[in-house]
Amino acid sequence: MNLILLGPPGAGKGTQAARVAERFSLAHLSSGDILRAEVRGDTELGRRAKGYMNAGGLVPDDLILEMMSRRIGDLGRASGFLLDGFPRTAVQAEGLDQRLTDSGRHLDRVIHLIVPDAALELRLTGRRSCPQCNAVYHTTFSPPRQDGVCDRCGAALAHRTDDQPEVVGTRLKMYHEQTRPLVDYYRRRGVLADIDGERDVDAVTAAIVAACGSGA
Ligand code: AP5
Repeated sequence: MNLILLGPPGAGKGTQAARVAERFSLAHLSSGDILRAEVRGDTELGRRAKGYMNAGGLVPDDLILEMMSRRIGDLGRASGFLLDGFPRTAVQAEGLDQRLTDSGRHLDRVIHLIVPDAALELRLTGRRSCPQCNAVYHTTFSPPRQDGVCDRCGAALAHRTDDQPEVVGTRLKMYHEQTRPLVDYYRRRGVLADIDGERDVDAVTAAIVAACGSGA
């Protein structure tokens, strides 16, 4: 099964992707996590992407398409995938279509997580992330057992640079302008499932699993 998780910043894509990928044994490809690893590694891609990311803008389509095509190509043909944060523009969606056609793959479902902007701001400004294993916490909604320390791997938690309130506004604007139109693109293709992402984490996971059917 091949899935996309589509939704605004803070909608819970990363939180749900970890659960859904495990449930259906899918490879989880998060464009944001891959880019942050490139920035930490000070690679050429990381250096080119860093400024766009810190400002809340989108990294150019050609860089993203090359990066994600390579990751999808690296997967064995037998492995299904869950894309989180990609595609984010019409150019990326068309590039992905081409990549899938060329490799004889197809999309089974696009999960659209719906959460209002006011709730997103609260989620992002309270989020704490593990730079080592990518686990996600929230100071109020899902705090770690020990303040500032990852439950899973023990690393110090970070407040992402792009989760500062002034950058969050730019990210939401980019979403509405560049990414929201993909909802209609995939609805027309008959693969979109709208999911209310404002419920608690378990309820959202159950709704996504139901929308994906048995996973066959
Ligand atoms: P990326 O890392 O993809 O960020 P994003 O899409 O903005 O998404 P987030 O990671 O902020 O949120 P999320 O939906 O995963 O929510 P989460 O589960 O963490 O991208 C970062 C940057 O990289 C972009 O701005 C761009 O510059 C660049 N980039 C990446 N991909 C790109 C692309 N394709 N093209 C161009 N540029 C690209 O949850 C958020 C918080 O809410 C957490 O604290 C969590 O604990 C909490 N939470 C989650 N679910 C619930 C719930 N149900 N109830 C209460 N709290 C909840």
